[in-house]
Amino acid sequence: MSIWGGRFTQGMDEAFERFNNSFRLDRRLISEDIEGSMAYAEALEKAGVLSDRELRQILDGLGKIRDRAQQDPGFLEEAMDEDVHSFVEARLVEIVGEAALKLHTGRSRNDQVAVDTRLFLKKAIGQVQKGLKALMGELLNQAGKHPDVVVPGYTHLRKAQPILLAHYLLAWFEMFSRDRDRFEDCFRRTDCMPLGAGALAGNAFAVDREALRKKLNFSRITANSLDAVSDRDYLVDFVSAGSLTLVHLSRLAEDLIFFSTPECGWIELSDEVTTGSSLMPQKKNPDSLELLRGKSGRVIGSLTRLLVLLKGLPLTYNKDLQEDKEALFDTLDTLLDSLQVAEVVVRTLRIDAAAARKALEGDFMTATDLADYLVRKGMPFREAHGVVGRIVLECEGRQIGLSELSLSRYRQLSPLFAEDLYQVLSARHSIEARSVTGGTAPERVAAALSRAEQSLTLQNPSERG
Ligand code: ARG
Repeated sequence: MSIWGGRFTQGMDEAFERFNNSFRLDRRLISEDIEGSMAYAEALEKAGVLSDRELRQILDGLGKIRDRAQQDPGFLEEAMDEDVHSFVEARLVEIVGEAALKLHTGRSRNDQVAVDTRLFLKKAIGQVQKGLKALMGELLNQAGKHPDVVVPGYTHLRKAQPILLAHYLLAWFEMFSRDRDRFEDCFRRTDCMPLGAGALAGNAFAVDREALRKKLNFSRITANSLDAVSDRDYLVDFVSAGSLTLVHLSRLAEDLIFFSTPECGWIELSDEVTTGSSLMPQKKNPDSLELLRGKSGRVIGSLTRLLVLLKGLPLTYNKDLQEDKEALFDTLDTLLDSLQVAEVVVRTLRIDAAAARKALEGDFMTATDLADYLVRKGMPFREAHGVVGRIVLECEGRQIGLSELSLSRYRQLSPLFAEDLYQVLSARHSIEARSVTGGTAPERVAAALSRAEQSLTLQNPSERG
C-alpha cells in the first residue's frame, strides 16, 4: 500500500520512481523515525485521536519494527518503499492493521523528516565530540610525555624560533577546542523540536507540542511551522563545523608529514599508520596523513552542496531538501573515521629528541634573541634588527653559527656586545624568555597543559545523551 495515490489515475514512471526514492539513504534514520512516531502516537492518544488500545497496538508494532531492523539486515535490504517514513508506516499497517492507518493524522513527512534528522544529528554530534575529545587527549598525553623537547618553530615553512614541542601540540588542542565549541553551538540550534508543524501550517489536532518536546528530549520547540519544515540551517552548521575540523586535521596531517620526513626527522610515524611501496623496498609512507589531508575535500564539497541546495529555495518544504541526507551522513562518517585515525597517529607518534636537537643547530633561530639583547642594552629595536641582520649575513658567508663569531668581531659591529651575548644564543634561553601568557616558556606551557587537561574533563550537553 502506498501512503498516497488517491488522486492519481496512473502509476509512476519507473525511472522517476527510482529517482524519487530515498530509502537507500534515509533508512539510516529508522530508529529516530520510530522514536518520533512513538512520541507522536502518544500525543494523538492524549488528543483523543487514538484510543488507549490503538496506542498500545501502535507502540507494540513500532517496537517490533525497531527490533527486526536491528536484528535482521535483510529486512531493510529487500524493501522497495519510497522512504524511511513510508517503510515504517507500511510495516506497521502489516503488523497492526487498522490502528496504523490513524498514526499519520495531522502529521506530514515534512515535520517528520525534520524531527528524525534533528534526533539523528543530536546523537551524531555527541559521537563527534567523543572523537574530538579522544584526539585531544592524545595530544595532551604526548605533550605531557615530552615536557622538555625543543623543536624548531616555523613561519613560511622556514625555521623561525625554537619552541617547546608541548607548546606546538597545545596549538592543535586550541584549534580542536574551537571545533568542539562550534559543534556544541550546532547542537544548541539542532536541539529544537519541529513536530506539530504539519505539512507547513501547523497541526489541526490538539497535539501537545510541549509534551512531545519532553518525550523526545528536546530543549525547545520550533516557533514557526513554515520555518520548521524548511529549515536545514542545522545541517549547514554541522557540515560547516565539520569542514573546519577536517581543515584542521588536514593542516595537522601536513605538518606531521613534513616533520616525519628524513629531512626533519624529530617525529616518527608508527608502522600502524604507514604503508610500504609495492616497488621501493625502503619506503615507509605516511598514507594515513595523506588521506586525512585528502578527506577534507569531500566534506567541503558537502558544505557547498548544502548551501547550493538551499540557495533560492522558496518556502516551505520542497523535495530538493531530500538531497540533504548524503551530505549529512557522509560528513558524519568521514569525521568519525578521520578523528579516529588522527587519534591513532598521534597516540603512536615517536619523538626523536636527538633529531630535534640537531634540527635546532645552525639556522640562526636565536637571531631575534640577539637583537633583543641589544635592545636591552639600549639600542632601538629597528637598529638592532639591522645590526643582527648584517651579522647573520656575515656568518652565512663564513658558514659559521652565531656562537662561533668572536667577541671582538661582535664588538666591532656594536660596542654594546659583551661576553654575556653568548648566553642568549641557546634555544633554552630563547624559550625561557618568552614568558608572556600564551608564550612558549616552560612554566607557561605547563600551566596551559594543566588548564587543557582540566577543560577536557568538562562535559558538553551533546555528550550527555
Ligand atoms: N523523503 C523526504 C525527505 O527526505 C521526506 C519528506 C517528503 N515530503 C513530501 N512532501 N514529499 O525530504
